[in-house]
Parts: sequence; C-alpha cells; structure tokens
Amino acid sequence: MTRTDRATMSVAADEIRRAADLLRAGELVGMPTETVYGLAADALNVEAVGKIFSAKGRPADHPLIVHLPDATHLARWARAIPKDALALARAFWPGPLTLILKREDGVPDAVTGGQDTVGLRVPDHPVALALLRAFDSGIAAPSANRFGRISPTTAAHVREELGDKVALVLDGGPCQVGIESTILDLSRDTPVILRPGAISADDIARVIGRRPEMRKPHAEEGAAPAEPDQPRVSGSLAAHYAPRTPLQLIPAARLAEEAATLAGEGSRVAVLARTCADPKDARLTWCNAPSDPAGYAHGLYANLRDLDACGADFIVVEGLPETPDWQAITDRLGRAAVGSGDGEDPLPERDET
Ligand code: TXA
Ligand code: MG
Repeated sequence: MTRTDRATMSVAADEIRRAADLLRAGELVGMPTETVYGLAADALNVEAVGKIFSAKGRPADHPLIVHLPDATHLARWARAIPKDALALARAFWPGPLTLILKREDGVPDAVTGGQDTVGLRVPDHPVALALLRAFDSGIAAPSANRFGRISPTTAAHVREELGDKVALVLDGGPCQVGIESTILDLSRDTPVILRPGAISADDIARVIGRRPEMRKPHAEEGAAPAEPDQPRVSGSLAAHYAPRTPLQLIPAARLAEEAATLAGEGSRVAVLARTCADPKDARLTWCNAPSDPAGYAHGLYANLRDLDACGADFIVVEGLPETPDWQAITDRLGRAAVGSGDGEDPLPERDET
C-alpha cells in the first residue's frame, strides 16, 4: 500500500474537476506532490507549457518533468524503454523517482528542451493522482518557484512565489518528502543519477542490480553543460534552491561560536541547527531541525524560507553527516549556499585559528 492510498484526500472532487478543466483550457495549476509543489500545465499544449517558463522566469531550454497517472502511460511518452525502467517504475511509482528515457514522437520540444529524452514520474500524492486521473494525460510540472529560488512545500509558498500567475492552487497540505525527486537517466548505456533525492543509489541498485553513477554538478548557474550532448538539468546548476540571505554551512563543533561571533560584530544571524542546543542568545534566531534525514528534508525548505524572511544578514547551517542518507540534503544545501545572497557579499572569511 502506498502513502497515497493511506492519505486522506484534502481537496474536494469538484475542485479536482475544475483543475483538470483549467489544464484542458491551457491554464496553469499549482499541484501538490509528495516532494514539492509543481506548477502544472498540459504537457501536450505548447502554449500552456510556454506559460510555465514565463511564470517561473525559467530559460526555455530547461526541460520539464512530465507527470503520469500510472506506468501504463509510459509508452505514449517514451520509446525503447529499458527493462530497468519498468522494474524501477514497479518498485518506486508512485514515488519520488524521475526516469529520463528516450522520448516518443509527439512529445513537444517545449517540454524536453529540444532533447531526444523526456523526464517522467508518477507522484505519490492523492491530490496529484486524482488530478492526473481526471486529466488522463501527461502533466508537465516543474517546482512551483521562481527560477533559482527555494522550491515550495505548501500551497501558501506557491502563492507567495507565483501569485496570480497561477489560475488555481490545489492545497494538498505540506509535502511529505520535502525535497525534489531523484532523477535517474536511463537513456544511455550507464544509469546516471542527475539529481539525488529520497530514492538513493543503493535503493536503485537493489532493483536493477548495478549501481548508478553520480553526475557531478556544474560550477555556476547558467554554465553550459560539461559536454555538448549532456542533458541540461537546472537542478544540477550549482546555484539553485537559494535564499536571498547569504547562507553558509558550518561544522557542528563551531556553529554556536561562529554565530555568536557574527552577532557580536553587529550582524543579525539566523541559525539552522540539527544537533546543537539553542544557546538562548537573544541576538540569534535559532531553528532546530529534526536530526533524521527524512524529518530534516520534510521541513528543510519551509525552514529556509522562514529563516530567509526573518530579517537576518546571514543564515548559518549546522554541517551534516557525510553519509549516503544525507547526500540529497547536502546537495540542496550546497546549492543554497552557492546561490544565496543575490550576489551580495559572501560571508567574511573567518580566521580558523
Ligand atoms: O520532485 C520533483 O521532481 C518536482 C515535482 C513537482 O515533481 N519537480 C521538479 O521539477 O523538481 P523541476 O523542473 O524543478 O526540476 C526537474 C529537473 C530539471 O532540473 C530538469 O532540467 C530535469 O528535471 N529534466 C527534466 N527533463 C529532463 C531530461 N529530458 N533530461 C535531463 N533532465 C531533465
Ligand atoms: Mg525546481
């Protein structure tokens, strides 16, 4: 039984019908998924897909993930589907795994960024699945944030990000997983994880009997792909998921001290801690996140939004364990650090001695 079957439907059936009608009419809808909220459009309507790019301010050559009601729809969107893809779909769909496959004829260039592949997944959220079943076709949906910003994990975040650019936001509550799906490229000989997520390399290896490679991120946002034929993954650009406030990761052993030093220099400091106890220093805005990866990921983007909005000059984040179960979260925080601050001065160099 999936999480979806157990969850209570939070959106009435007539609202789902209305959302499906809006999609058919070429409008955008905010769609909850188990990972983050998506900005949904009819994947076969080029004009509607164009609205996604203008609403997000996203470059038009960045491909979108197409969400499907179930794996039986795969053949309409992908060709030459390897048996590994079918095995992974059986194991993890609905769920936070996107498969990159060779695209079938008729999948618009607007969705694939003109590449010969398409990203496909079946989300594990009752509202998304109800909408997909009512719509009965592919829904293109990137995360419903403006380009380069923190992904939304509540309906309120979507409204904050996109306001009236979206016809309707379905409120499915806070997203369970909290970070974007694992993206696995199965369009080439070697499976490659383009973006780590809740489904790990080990999870994938257990199903397909070999370990996927891990794609190295690009150095800078907007940087050209490392090889001309490599797919573009905006989530793989280094500066992504970024708050406006400069953000830095600091080892647990030095966290409280660094925060107090910055505050002592007159800066307003927000802290995202995990194991470190709140020193009850009135100069610090202190947030303690859960110490397990699933709990931490679930609240990560909402925590970053809150800390970004509290008026601090700096966000300091307690460093995380270097174990595989923290990899996807470390990936997102690393990008948040690179992209943070809107180009303002980075944190001053600290004297290590
Ligand atoms: O969890 C998720 O995946 C969320 C929810 C809404 O499903 N969606 C999401 O979409 O994170 P987006 O667009 O923010 O990130 C999807 C990433 C993009 O970086 C895009 O470049 C990559 O998937 N992608 C999509 N199609 C691709 C393809 N054919 N080849 C390579 N990368 C692709
Ligand atoms: Mg995104």
